[in-house]
Amino acid sequence: GAAVEADISALKPGEKMTVEWRGKPVWILRRTPEQLAALSTLDPQLADPKSERKPAEQAPAYARNATRSIKPEYFVAVGICTHLGCSPSDKFQAGAQPSLPDDWQGGFFCPCHGSTFDLAGRVFKNKPAPDNLEVPPHVYLSDTRLLIG
Ligand code: FES
Repeated sequence: GAAVEADISALKPGEKMTVEWRGKPVWILRRTPEQLAALSTLDPQLADPKSERKPAEQAPAYARNATRSIKPEYFVAVGICTHLGCSPSDKFQAGAQPSLPDDWQGGFFCPCHGSTFDLAGRVFKNKPAPDNLEVPPHVYLSDTRLLIG
């Protein structure tokens, strides 16, 4: 399918936008410094913190790093749960969902069977989703233009 261009110039820290690519929602999240700093503290709680299970399927080589991204500030992911394909919702704040633990740093919550993901799309342990969210192929055309696909 055709690549899709996204203008990220209006995206503020902490905000997320969604573009459609090959019929799938692709999220672009602009992470705050606090959100980025929290990522490394979560590894013990995650099922596959370093995305080692299916590296080639889960992210292009340039996004196989600690932030799962080209630029740490921007996280690009296919917004489809790796369990049975629902679309997780944004739960950027702990306590935003009654069924989530109070100490959860926030991330994405799949309403279908309760899988939770951090702000690098990494799935938490003991959840139905087996794998981290997929990072699609993408490239920056400029500081404000992103090409997905
Ligand atoms: Fe997301 Fe089942 S489809 S937890």
